[in-house]
Amino acid sequence: MKVAVIGVGYWGPNLVRNLLQIDACEQVVAHDLDESRLKGIIRHYPTTAIAHDLDQVLSDPAIGAVVVATPVKTHAEIAMRALEAGKSVLVEKPLAISSSEARALVDLARSRRLLVMAGHTFLFSPPVQRVKRLIEAGELGTPLYVQSSRVNLGIHRSDVNVVWDLAPHDLSILWSWLGEHPRSVSAIGRSQNGAPADVAFLDLSYPSGCLANLHLSWLAPTKVRRMTIVGSRRMVVYEDTNAEEPLRIYDSGAEPPNPDDLSAPGGGFTWTYRTGDVVSPRIDSWEPLKAELEEFLARAGRGETPDEREEAAVQLVRVIEAAEESMRGGGAPVSL
Ligand SMILES: NC(=O)c1ccc[n+]([C@@H]2O[C@H](COP(=O)([O-])OP(=O)(O)OC[C@H]3O[C@@H](n4cnc5c(N)ncnc54)[C@H](O)[C@@H]3O)[C@@H](O)[C@H]2O)c1
Repeated sequence: MKVAVIGVGYWGPNLVRNLLQIDACEQVVAHDLDESRLKGIIRHYPTTAIAHDLDQVLSDPAIGAVVVATPVKTHAEIAMRALEAGKSVLVEKPLAISSSEARALVDLARSRRLLVMAGHTFLFSPPVQRVKRLIEAGELGTPLYVQSSRVNLGIHRSDVNVVWDLAPHDLSILWSWLGEHPRSVSAIGRSQNGAPADVAFLDLSYPSGCLANLHLSWLAPTKVRRMTIVGSRRMVVYEDTNAEEPLRIYDSGAEPPNPDDLSAPGGGFTWTYRTGDVVSPRIDSWEPLKAELEEFLARAGRGETPDEREEAAVQLVRVIEAAEESMRGGGAPVSL
């Protein structure tokens, strides 16, 4: 099928580049309100067709799927129009700027027997998938807490704050690892001169008892993309910026005193610490964005409609709304 990419600013050209490598995509059609962006696409990817308005995309029956990479506030309207025109849609993260819009998108896709999928690219990342398998196999024991730092001197967006921009990555990864959604969130953030917040700290608590802390910032001296997951058996440090060694698995732990176990070190009256091997597993390498697009086109081609992954994408938007509510309330916890 022909696939249209709507919005070819910073991220859209990556979508075009990857779609051009996918067999299921016969041709890429690009549309953007800014003509200069379209000229850049033709210069770099000359086989791409150009559509000068959205109606040209929506009225073309050969275009079976649409990928939306425009500012977050425009996601729902463009995706709705594409669904109404009979196209399946991949919407870049986050699915929409409000949970009601995200809900409406998923409901509309179901009623039209089409797919609307959220572009949570990290779900297709090899190290993220490896950690998921480690957790599912019980290698880490019970997940106790996760700490994430996603900071750098990043592009300050004017349309959304840093939580809307970066938290979708952490929240989607946490959903895939823990298999649950937070039951409460508290958040604080700060901004400069009334611009959208450029630093935020989120605390999440999950029904299982697992805790997570996210540090999100566009204002930091170095680029850090690190998640530490502490389990009752092992601990993992995932560093996305470390191509050589993205995962380190620590056979470390601490057991509380157990006076019934007299054979334990300290006669069962002291904490027992374990510091064993540190393993850096070999991780396969592929481009997550290409895998995401392949999955989208395969699901759309099979005629799939939204499932629990899209329900999770709606809930993720709800968590961000709750984080903003908490930020407005000075960090008071908001239940979900
Ligand atoms: N998955 C990821 O890792 C990842 C990374 C970066 C950005 N994103 C997402 O991609 C989306 C776009 O981000 P970006 O950084 O490319 O933004 P951007 O501002 O650089 O680009 C957006 C483009 O959309 C165009 N546009 C705006 N409104 C439009 C409309 N109504 N119709 C057609 N074109 C329109 C603009 O002219 C611009 O060229 C956002 O949702 C963002 O969250 C995802």
